Amino acid sequence: MNKPTNLGIEDLTEPLTYSAESFLSRDYAKEEGNKLWAKVWQHAGRVEEIPEVGNFITYNVGDDSILIVRTAADTIKAYHNVCSHRGRQLVDTPPEAHSACGKRTQFVCGFHAWRYDLDGNCTHKLDEGDWKGTLTDVRTHLGEVKVDTWGGWLFINMDANAAPLHEYLDPVTKTLGPFSMEKMRYKWRQWVIFDCNWKTAIEAFMEPYHVEGTHTQLLKYGQYYAYSKAHKLHGVSGFDERDPTMKMKQSSTITRAGKGADARVSTYELQNEIYTTVNNASTTETLVNAAKRLVDELPEGTPPGDVIKHWLASARADDAKRGIEWPTITPEQMGEAGLAWSVFPNMSILQGITFALCYRARPYGDDPNKCIFESYAIERFPEGQEPKTEWVYAEATAEKWGKVLSQDFSNMAAVQRGMKSRGFRGTLPNPHQERKVTNFHRVLADYMQADAPKLIK
Ligand code: FES
Ligand SMILES: [Fe+2]
Repeated sequence: MNKPTNLGIEDLTEPLTYSAESFLSRDYAKEEGNKLWAKVWQHAGRVEEIPEVGNFITYNVGDDSILIVRTAADTIKAYHNVCSHRGRQLVDTPPEAHSACGKRTQFVCGFHAWRYDLDGNCTHKLDEGDWKGTLTDVRTHLGEVKVDTWGGWLFINMDANAAPLHEYLDPVTKTLGPFSMEKMRYKWRQWVIFDCNWKTAIEAFMEPYHVEGTHTQLLKYGQYYAYSKAHKLHGVSGFDERDPTMKMKQSSTITRAGKGADARVSTYELQNEIYTTVNNASTTETLVNAAKRLVDELPEGTPPGDVIKHWLASARADDAKRGIEWPTITPEQMGEAGLAWSVFPNMSILQGITFALCYRARPYGDDPNKCIFESYAIERFPEGQEPKTEWVYAEATAEKWGKVLSQDFSNMAAVQRGMKSRGFRGTLPNPHQERKVTNFHRVLADYMQADAPKLIK
């Protein structure tokens, strides 16, 4: 492995390259377990998955399994999912299942029946006297893992010395704070195994630069030229103004008119296309319906900025009628938030005022050529009308995921295979539109102390 360079964020504006080793090497994948996953804050689920005391989920990454438990109305704890006696995994993830979840008053090990309360104390050790007093509470307590929440997500960190989550997430918490995502709930959640590295999978969602090659049907509805910016460990992309007629402050996925002379029509066409081909996500039914009425509610020739303003106001009123309160987000905040955030290492959030479409990719053991990929939509629902969801394994087809995601999926294994080519000379990410990707590799190289991107001279 190459030694890291001292690459700064400011260098990311320059053309850079990095090798494919981090995607292909099994040794690198093993090292990632120690140097990255054991050290980094990572999102392990949503708070809504453990609403009541005793509710738990398991979160597995590489060879580690973490048990996350609600221990009191306002307390969540996380433990290494391993019995302190002889190391049986305490809570089994059923074969072929995404994770385990349920509700317990205590955890009983399936091997010799040692018991643990929700706070991780070992409350029963069969024939404890045989150990001659050495089975202290400390020795038998479940190993604690740091856990914290933000935006309705559960984050864990296995490193006892890790900086606090809010420090780690900066400036994501500040920029996305106004979207109050903690009030959103799952709409659907699906997962699948891909024949590619987890980085290959998550990087497919870091830039809209690929629309031109991957989602050609979308080209007739919108412009996808994008900026890509690094913010500390994380990054954001947003639509840029290659075409000055598209220029408006609130330039996110939903708050922009489509391509076409009549913004009333093109706004609807873009919304409808997104909703129907991105698995009923990346916008909402309310927004699509309000966009459909634009031609009836506004005169021909209304400027794009006014169309967007009217459309958002009427969608807001529609949602208010069914009991959904929109947060107030200023045009400046919308502009700052952009289109989509990559939270290091493996979380992608494509946000709107009333929804978000999220992706996560995790390693599959230490196999560099496989990963667990998940995507889910969250949305604001009227209280009591939140859908009941669970993790559904879904083959990577258009039928199961919608046309757009299945197009993204078609690149995964092909990129992984292509990078193995003897003829591949290393990546050439776009210095303006794919900076999230290079920043990701810059930060990864810091954790791994290897394989930093290099300036192309
Ligand atoms: S390994 Fe858990 S009780 Fe023995
Ligand atoms: Fe895509």
